[in-house]
Amino acid sequence: MKRILIVLLLLGLCACQKETLEDRLRILGYTEEAIQVISSLPEADQERFTETYDEHYSELLTSPEFDKDHLEDYLRYYGMLPNDKMIEMVNQGVLNENTLSRMKEVYESDYYIPAYEELYLEYLDRYPSVRQMMEAVNTGTYRPFFTDIKETDMSKGYLILVNKYYTLSADYEPDDLVQVESAYGKGQLREAAYEAFKQLHDDAYELGYNIRVVSPYRSYSYQVAVYDKYLQKDPVEVVDSYSARPGLSEHQTGLCADVSIPGIYIDDFGEYEASDWLSENAHRYGFIIRFPKNKEDVTGYIWEAWHIRYVGEEVATDIYERGITFDEYYACFIEDHE
Ligand code: DAL
Ligand code: ZN
Repeated sequence: MKRILIVLLLLGLCACQKETLEDRLRILGYTEEAIQVISSLPEADQERFTETYDEHYSELLTSPEFDKDHLEDYLRYYGMLPNDKMIEMVNQGVLNENTLSRMKEVYESDYYIPAYEELYLEYLDRYPSVRQMMEAVNTGTYRPFFTDIKETDMSKGYLILVNKYYTLSADYEPDDLVQVESAYGKGQLREAAYEAFKQLHDDAYELGYNIRVVSPYRSYSYQVAVYDKYLQKDPVEVVDSYSARPGLSEHQTGLCADVSIPGIYIDDFGEYEASDWLSENAHRYGFIIRFPKNKEDVTGYIWEAWHIRYVGEEVATDIYERGITFDEYYACFIEDHE
């Protein structure tokens, strides 16, 4: 009888000890699923989860890709990247100090778009710098121009994006176009853009720069004629570097204008002081230089010192100060990402 009692007591003690580990894990806050995983680990590894606790350990342990054999590395890189991503990279053997520091740069960037996390990882090593990679992913230029062209989101008002990936419908025509008076140039602009341009013109004029509108709003059919005319003299790749295909021209928005000073060839505008003044001051009136120098890879167009786009003073100033393109600004701060 005594012997039976001792055996029962010992069995009870064993059960207690087993319960102790699970209870402890439960008290620490692990989920039941995570507790099961920890229980299946070698004792030395179990201790790692009882000695310290972090609220995301459960997530790590129960990730579908979790593999006990990589535990050492998971814990080494834990907390430096999102768990799933880190586990995936450890499993593939591609996580090292270099990748890690590049990914940290991605997560800490002002231009990080969560929806593009997978793409940042995919393209991490394909550009000279993390910044360039993010710019390409954010603007979609990691793909050839004209890939997967979408209708632009017209709800964005003065901030609609038109480029080599976002199009206007052929029948779009702004309903508040006004005539540009001859003192300011020619053609038509949307009212807000015209009011802003008049101020810009008047201030520039006082400084001796007679900046005038040369080509503002263009209808879809007009752009068809413009683009086709260029195709008569240049190959399509060349035309695409300086002229937009119909539907993809900002000129159809009525929010932009090609400007110049009298007596010069517009292509030379960038060589004049008036152009320097414009690039330093246009934002104060709500305009940006839409196709800046050295951003051809992003905008898809050669530098156009003369092409200004109205986006309103606040956004124009922000873009000017950041030194980024409207394409990237739109992706980071205006576009809705699912
Ligand atoms: N020149 C600009 C890109 C346009 O055609 O809209
Ligand atoms: Zn233009």
